[in-house]
Amino acid sequence: MQTLAVVENGSVVIGHDGLIKAVGSADIIESQFKGAKFDNVLDASGMCVLPGLVDTHTHPVWAGDRVHEFAMKLAGATYMEVHEAGGGIHFTVTHTRSATEQHLLDGLKSRLERMMRAGTTLVECKSGYGLELDTELKMLRVINSARKSLPIGISATYCGAHAVPKLFQGHVAAAGEWRRRDFDGPPGTGGCRSRREAQVNAGDQVKNPTKNRGKTMEEATQDIVAVQLPKIKKLTASGDLQVDNIDAFCEKGVFDLNSTRCILQAGKNMGLNINFHGDELHPMNSANLGAELGALAISHLEEVTDDGIAAMATAKISAVLLPTTAYILRLSPPRARDMLDAGVIVALGSDFNPNAYCCSMPMVMHLACVMMKMSMPEALAASTINAAYALNRSHTHGSLEMGKQGDLVIINAPRWEHLVYQFGGHQELIRYVIIKGEIVYE
Ligand code: NIG
Ligand code: FE
Repeated sequence: MQTLAVVENGSVVIGHDGLIKAVGSADIIESQFKGAKFDNVLDASGMCVLPGLVDTHTHPVWAGDRVHEFAMKLAGATYMEVHEAGGGIHFTVTHTRSATEQHLLDGLKSRLERMMRAGTTLVECKSGYGLELDTELKMLRVINSARKSLPIGISATYCGAHAVPKLFQGHVAAAGEWRRRDFDGPPGTGGCRSRREAQVNAGDQVKNPTKNRGKTMEEATQDIVAVQLPKIKKLTASGDLQVDNIDAFCEKGVFDLNSTRCILQAGKNMGLNINFHGDELHPMNSANLGAELGALAISHLEEVTDDGIAAMATAKISAVLLPTTAYILRLSPPRARDMLDAGVIVALGSDFNPNAYCCSMPMVMHLACVMMKMSMPEALAASTINAAYALNRSHTHGSLEMGKQGDLVIINAPRWEHLVYQFGGHQELIRYVIIKGEIVYE
């Protein structure tokens, strides 16, 4: 990861099939293709041509932003405090369940376009704001439609185990209202969910047992394994859906190790790649579970142990590191250096979601270098070839090599490192984004 092959005065040739036909020194390629007719020739003199960026971890399908929660977190609330009080993922679930498919698709498309403009050409997209069959399927259909209508490559992940559906969906305080002591406080103090409201909802629950019914972790696990996954299997077999990966949030207070094992194993049995959230807020032994199950990737890993790092290196599990999470939640960032030194295949992702609203892989690379002490070549490898590996696409994506897909980012700078060095506002820097040989942004 330290040594990148940089070609000075290079050329890339992409065929009509969207695949790279030649890459290397311009002199050699010019003589090789002498007399050939090209549909389009881009003069990138003075610029740098890089492989398209690969974003390994996003939650881009949702309705209802959480800007008010940003204010709460700035005021001192932790991620789990907000979550347990009915906000966080639960807030987004409430809004996503009631959103129309068209509304979700419009939102997804505009986010994916923003990612493309920042150089992302392949992105992993998760479901996970439904937590029940209908909404999870709605999200997966939306991802499927975006795949058909936009040039960006998509790896779809079923993440029905993103949270245990909550008994009550409480309201969350408006911006600025929240103070730490207000949690569970009386109405009017700006608490996320007041005790009074919880009692009212509990009464409602008794009268209407199906309304707002939440689940225990065991019930949620059973629902995923026995109801949701079999339906997804049917729809993927008939070609109505394409799902590539299975994910679960293995975390204290969410899905424990055993439930996570059950869910991931069931997904693997139907041919999905395992790529899950682990060891984010607490050490959960996720890395060892990943090794046991043959996982392709584990995301987060802020709290992974030394033993876990060794297990991931041996099992060649990619560590998907998400610097935006640690940044926004003010956590200690994952130990990227220890992982790199141990030989773990480190990849990066934006973790785009209503908590971490970042569509930009260049920003992620910048954060990875500053916060996690990665070098710029490491950050680029982690956002291209290693990221492609984490999505099981390293044979087609992630580097400029003959036969791979012609996905490029061309930057208006004399050295490629400017893509990492400059942060915020990449519009001036990114000159072209190309997917399968077609210019998708200039
Ligand atoms: O990767 N940690 C769990 N999932 C997401 C956050 C999702 C949300 O807060 O809506 C993550 O950071
Ligand atoms: Fe996530």
